[in-house]
Amino acid sequence: MENELIKKGRELREKAKEDLAKALDQLGLDSFYATYLSKKGSLRGLLGNMKDVAPEERGETGSAINSFFREINDAYETRKKRLEEEKRQKKLESETIDISLPGRKPQTGFINPYHLIIDEVTDIFISMGYEVVEGRDVETDLYNFELLNVPKDHPSRDMQDTFYLNADKLLRTQTSAAQAHTMRERSSDPKPIRMICPGKAYRRDDDDQTHSHQFAQIEGLVVDKDISIANLKATLELFAKKMFGEKREIRLRSSYFPFTEPSVEVDVSCFACGGKGCSTCKGTGWIEILGAGMVNPKVLRDCGYDPEVWTGFAFGVGVERVAMLRYGIDDIRRFYSDDLRFLSDFTGK
Ligand code: PHE
Repeated sequence: MENELIKKGRELREKAKEDLAKALDQLGLDSFYATYLSKKGSLRGLLGNMKDVAPEERGETGSAINSFFREINDAYETRKKRLEEEKRQKKLESETIDISLPGRKPQTGFINPYHLIIDEVTDIFISMGYEVVEGRDVETDLYNFELLNVPKDHPSRDMQDTFYLNADKLLRTQTSAAQAHTMRERSSDPKPIRMICPGKAYRRDDDDQTHSHQFAQIEGLVVDKDISIANLKATLELFAKKMFGEKREIRLRSSYFPFTEPSVEVDVSCFACGGKGCSTCKGTGWIEILGAGMVNPKVLRDCGYDPEVWTGFAFGVGVERVAMLRYGIDDIRRFYSDDLRFLSDFTGK
């Protein structure tokens, strides 16, 4: 015989089945549990109403209600497990690594064209038997100026407006400082020198298209017995041909540097027009590429090489200038702007 309580229990069971199907996450399950299965939940709560049931019906009613409760409780447990399993599965899927995907290429850097030029010039001089000397960016007044025959108050200091760190230390204004170091280091037992020194130099120039407060030079120094200006010319001509093409010629124009005597500017015949005159050479057919000269006897003596025994020549190449000519770069500031669009144009070929 079905009494009111059993009927109510059956209704609740049906309702619970519907609600359980709608519980899609932990939150839904929790509220389902509270509604139907907890101590205060309705299915379990029905047992509290047993006192209203006639004693002879209690056994049957109790076992009916209990079986509804167990049925729903089992369904709840099953669903809870399924949801947990689904959640775990989703997490695993989101964490899987597709090992068949191609790897990501790390972005590689580019070699600044100014280093390309330094490498190229260095190779040329190494092939002629030169050694590469490392200089210093921070110099003393002695090496940057005085030993190069530029005493204090010498007017040529005006051409190289200097970053002083203190009264005596400065950022070198020219790689020529390496000349003095090299000779001095070897002066106790003077031997022939054939060296180049690539490196940075600094001047308090206003930055514009052709001037930068920091730039690179390559210094060259040859000291030996019986070195003449013919050796200087032959060396720099070979350099110009290797650097700018077999057909290039050079010309020397007289100039002035305190540490060389005589001093020259070296021009190379224009590699863009072959010497006819164009915008690269400003119509002259010649392009100035470096300063040079025979080492001043005073410099030799001050650096510990007896000028009665030794002679030599020196030169200084402006790296950015060569790179700008070679690659048609319009603004020196591009070398220092770290712009990948600019740098990626130079692959070293
Ligand atoms: N040091 C000179 C300059 O910076 C260049 C130079 C080097 C000239 C060596 C002659 C010899 O202008």
